[in-house]
Amino acid sequence: MLARFLNAAALVALTLAMLTQGQGARALDWTKVPGKDITLFYPAQMSWEMLLTQSEHGGAEKFRDGKNCRGCHEGEEESSGNLLVADKSVEATPIAGKPGSIKLNVKAAHDGERIYIQLAFTPGAQPDAGMDKDFATKVAVMLDDGGVAEAGRAGCWAACHDNATRMPSAAGKETTKYLARSRVSLTRKGGEEIKPAAEIDAMRTAGGFLEYWQARLVAGAPPKVVDGTVLEKRSDREVSAVIAESAESNGLWTVTFSRKLDAGPGYKPMTSGKTYTVGFSVHAGHAAHRFHYVSLERTLTIDAPTPASGKPDFVAAPF
Ligand code: HEC
Repeated sequence: MLARFLNAAALVALTLAMLTQGQGARALDWTKVPGKDITLFYPAQMSWEMLLTQSEHGGAEKFRDGKNCRGCHEGEEESSGNLLVADKSVEATPIAGKPGSIKLNVKAAHDGERIYIQLAFTPGAQPDAGMDKDFATKVAVMLDDGGVAEAGRAGCWAACHDNATRMPSAAGKETTKYLARSRVSLTRKGGEEIKPAAEIDAMRTAGGFLEYWQARLVAGAPPKVVDGTVLEKRSDREVSAVIAESAESNGLWTVTFSRKLDAGPGYKPMTSGKTYTVGFSVHAGHAAHRFHYVSLERTLTIDAPTPASGKPDFVAAPF
């Protein structure tokens, strides 16, 4: 009897200890984490293939020679977005009254076990595009660890092809994002034929894929989180390693993503001192597919950057 009582008491003590530890466990005070504003712009139908064609894009040759998108376009996002959102030559079906760009505030931190990325933005006055009935607003992160060289140079455009759904060469088909390496060949219209499964598997094992996280937002309810990879297609996971919390106040959305730094196979291992490429997107006004705002390529390090990582845009510092 006494032993049983002791056991129960020990259990209560242990539970209490765990609870207090959990509560006190280094709560993250986001007001102390410095944030950075970036501008996301409407990219219309400017695909990877179009951007690589000099007669259609003045930066094509220099991009091929090694200059990154950002090297020419940083600071122009707002004016590019205003141009593209209504330009019939690159936007077959403009959404009347859609703003050309949106600001996104980005914060990052980690606690030794998980990485946290907090994104804050105001969709503003958005016309209802009527494409996604369930979610007016969605926000996403694209992540690479150097496994996809073209993502380091062009961010999300590495996955944006001319034959993707509702792009100029879609020919009525549904094709998700993919990476050029997954195709047997690539023309101005993108690539149709996918390489043999064994080759795709080998690329995946070697880290030649992008990771993405998306939070689909509903005011007053938890977000629906989807994560996955992009290689020969966009593959959503059945069970997400990423969790997200969201809050909305006076039109301002604040979304906090997190996942384990080491989230296992199929997730980019995140380690101290290493530089990652990140890209962001926001779908607003019930938009879907390509009708989103996107960022140019950005960089993130975990902890203080090493000399090799240069000057990252975002540092996930420990808290
Ligand atoms: C060497 C500089 C340079 C590089 C690198 C470059 N661009 Fe451009 N880009 C231009 C110039 C110049 C224009 C305007 C004239 C044109 O469209 O040909 C342009 C136009 C654009 C436009 C149309 C909107 C606008 O403001 O004119 C978009 C979108 C764009 N580029 C995206 C990209 C992306 C994405 C990349 C990387 C894959 C990239 N560019 C790389 C120079 C560059």
